[in-house]
Amino acid sequence: MTLQNDLFLRALARKPVDRTPVWLMRQAGRYLPEYNATRKKAGNFLTLCKTPELACEVTLQPIDRYGFDAAILFSDILTVPDALGLGLHFVEGEGPRFHRRITSEADIAGLPQIDIGPALGYVGDAVALIRQELQGRVPLIGFTGSPWTLACYMISGGSSGDDFLSVRKWLYSRPDLVHQLLGRITEVVIGYCRMQADRGAQAMMVFDSWGGLLADAAFEKFSQPYIRRIIDGLTQSHPALPTIVFVKGGSGWLEKTAATGCSAIGVDWSISLDQARARVGSRCAVQGNLDPAVLLGTPAHIRAEVGQAIRSFGTLGEGAGHVFNLGHGISQFTPVENVQCLVEAVAEFSGQQA
Ligand code: CP3
Repeated sequence: MTLQNDLFLRALARKPVDRTPVWLMRQAGRYLPEYNATRKKAGNFLTLCKTPELACEVTLQPIDRYGFDAAILFSDILTVPDALGLGLHFVEGEGPRFHRRITSEADIAGLPQIDIGPALGYVGDAVALIRQELQGRVPLIGFTGSPWTLACYMISGGSSGDDFLSVRKWLYSRPDLVHQLLGRITEVVIGYCRMQADRGAQAMMVFDSWGGLLADAAFEKFSQPYIRRIIDGLTQSHPALPTIVFVKGGSGWLEKTAATGCSAIGVDWSISLDQARARVGSRCAVQGNLDPAVLLGTPAHIRAEVGQAIRSFGTLGEGAGHVFNLGHGISQFTPVENVQCLVEAVAEFSGQQA
């Protein structure tokens, strides 16, 4: 099926576009009344993820409502540790928790060898169904957590309350164990991403949500090389698949993130788009980076901030490559009409840059 809107893929390839494509991290989520209705029907968040028909329904909701330029698979990064037998559940108002956590070398050795197909087949089924239901309207993004970010949750058992201090302690007491765990996760993640691509994902995003907790040299040891292995693995099996790497809190090392070989880097709001473009724009596209809090403001402020971000990125000719997004997930307290305001402002202001 031919793609009716390829703006997102064009921007990732740094080809000219007549306006900037836009999608938002967590675009299917609790700020949308229709999401809350489907989630209620599912009973809980995890059942929503594990039921392809319902995951498909919520993936399409923000596309139908706002006409975003890309859809993102509705799932969670923690499906991988769940498939490795840690037993994921969500405590209302507190976030993710595992029944078991990784506390020792024996725990790492005891992680089962899994077959991605049976273990995470529900994710592949959701991808295939979403592709079918999208009918070529916009491309579908698949995703994974980075090995470091997944290891944080697996070692802590879920809570990020202390900025994963218990996990960071391992970096400086048992780095060998951390590397063992990261190696195991990386193998599984490569298979997981390949499965999503085989079932129809048209771009792959790696979320390193906790990469920014690492010291500069530690990022180079414990996160970047494993993300690079994932990108290398995907490039071997799916050479045409564009990849996006988002390191929250990682604006200090954009060059190292770009050196993973990704097609685009995601940036948070701690750096301006002109600076991000100047540093890595000749190597990859840039996705981001409005502060999600902007969407809690007034329409006039939203328009002003969107216009500022788009002018900061600059012209959209050959070699440009900007995907408009937030610098992190959308807040559940965002008024739905403010998202409409953002989408319209992106089209209006970026049309003037083309
Ligand atoms: O972007 C999308 O619309 C796709 C769906 C998506 C979700 N999680 C749905 C979700 C994606 C891409 C994720 C990734 C994810 N999950 C990350 C990386 C991105 C980031 O935010 O940094 C992380 C760290 C997780 C782990 C996770 N899942 C946490 C910490 C929580 C609880 C926090 C919260 O916002 O409640 C979740 C739950 C979660 N994942 C929700 C959604 C829509 C809210 C669950 C609900 O409906 O109650």
